Order: sequence, then C-alpha cells, then structure tokens
Amino acid sequence: MICIRRARPSDAAAIGAVHVATWRTTYAGVLPDDYLARLSPVRHALGYEQAIADRQNGHAIFVAVASGPDAPGGGAQGGGAQGGGTQAGAGGTVVGFVSGGRARRGWLAQGEVETLYLLEDFRERGIGRRLMRAMAAHLAAVGCRSAMLWVLSDNPTRWFYRHLGGRPAAEERFRFAGQAMDQMAFLWDPIETLLAATAPAPES
Ligand SMILES: CC(C)(COP(=O)(O)OP(=O)(O)OC[C@H]1O[C@@H](n2cnc3c(N)ncnc32)[C@H](O)[C@@H]1OP(=O)(O)O)[C@@H](O)C(=O)NCCC(=O)NCCS
Repeated sequence: MICIRRARPSDAAAIGAVHVATWRTTYAGVLPDDYLARLSPVRHALGYEQAIADRQNGHAIFVAVASGPDAPGGGAQGGGAQGGGTQAGAGGTVVGFVSGGRARRGWLAQGEVETLYLLEDFRERGIGRRLMRAMAAHLAAVGCRSAMLWVLSDNPTRWFYRHLGGRPAAEERFRFAGQAMDQMAFLWDPIETLLAATAPAPES
C-alpha cells in the first residue's frame, strides 16, 4: 500500500535520504559530480526537520509511504534510500515527497510547489500525481488561487507537468553549484485546473 500523508518531524531523516538519492540520479550529468557526491543526507534531514516544523507561509511537506507488499523488499526492512526508501518515523518506508507553500516570489502565482521527488523504483505508478494532488489541495486550503513550480528546462519531468495541464509561463537563467542553468515555470491558474488534473480516477 502507498499512503500519502503530511510529514512528521520523525520523517526528516527519511526525507533527507530520499532527497540525496533522487538528486544523484535525477541530476547526474547535469550538476557537477563533486557537488552530488558531497550531498549529505544528515544535513538535508536537518533542513527538512526545520521545514516540517515551520508552518509559516502555508508551508507543508507530504510524504509517500510504502508498506506491506509495496514496501521496498516486499515488506522487509528497507535499507538505504539508494536501494529503495528509508524507514518512515512511524511504520512504512518513505519513497517520495513534495513540498510547497505560498509562492516565494509572488508575481507569477500565489502558491508554489517547491520540490517533488520519488525514488526510481516507485515512478510511473501514479504516486507523483497523488503527491501533486495533496499539495494542490493544501495550497487551495491555505487560500492560494493559483499554483506554479520551477523545473530545469532540460529535465524530462517537464512533460509530466505539461501532462498535468501546467502552462509554461516563464523562463530564467540562474547560477547553481557554480554553473549557469536554465529553468522554466509551469503555471496552473486557477488552481482548480491542477486539482482537476490530479483528481483520483473514479472507481470502476
Ligand atoms: C516527476 C515524478 C515525481 C513523477 O512521478 P510519477 O509517479 O512517475 O508520475 P505518475 O505515475 O503519477 O504520472 C502521472 C501521469 O503523468 C505521466 N508522466 C509521468 N512522467 C512523465 C514524463 N516524464 N513525460 C510525460 N508524461 C509523464 C504519466 O504517464 C501519467 O499519465 P496518465 O496517468 O495519464 O497515464 C517522478 O518522475 C520523479 O521523481 N522524477 C525525478 C525527480 C524530478 O525530476 N522531480 C522534479 C523536480 S522539479
């Protein structure tokens, strides 16, 4: 079973491990090797611990937790995130997460999806859509009438956002890890377009 729920402080270590594992696969060949090698699950866990506790500006993190036959190893204790997930604070294994809140730069939209990462073994099973749904519902609940996110222009995930009805709305160049990178923004305005695109399929 895969459940999507709000992150708890005890999930921080698991989220940090998933962050590092997914960055190393997603951005291999995009970000410098030494930057990726230096990523620290412990350091990121500390950052996520603060982010979970800090609910200002409508900020929230949701996790995808696998348990039972869906857990990495079919319910056996999961090892490191590289192989497939990290034990969640209270049962199950964190295999992905989404974070967001009121937009950091409000000129494009009121709400922002800041991060969305899922371990490779758990992709293309509808979990990414469910995480986006959780964040869209949260942003709408805290009063955001539109939503956006930034994605690297050459990240194939941009097609996922297009598939969910996101409209390319801006492009910009920025510096990260010592190199120039291009990113683009996808926009859902009104936010109901994202809620509709991520609505659960009706039971057949
Ligand atoms: C982005 C990500 C979370 C998507 O999660 P996922 O669980 O694999 O996606 P889903 O299974 O929920 O897909 C939902 C729909 O999008 C489609 N989709 C998924 N990835 C797609 C892609 N790369 N291109 C086009 N469509 C895509 C699916 O086919 C599915 O469509 P359908 O339900 O109409 O058949 C996942 O691929 C991921 O973690 N990628 C690497 C990390 C990353 O780049 N994150 C984004 C940083 S901004």
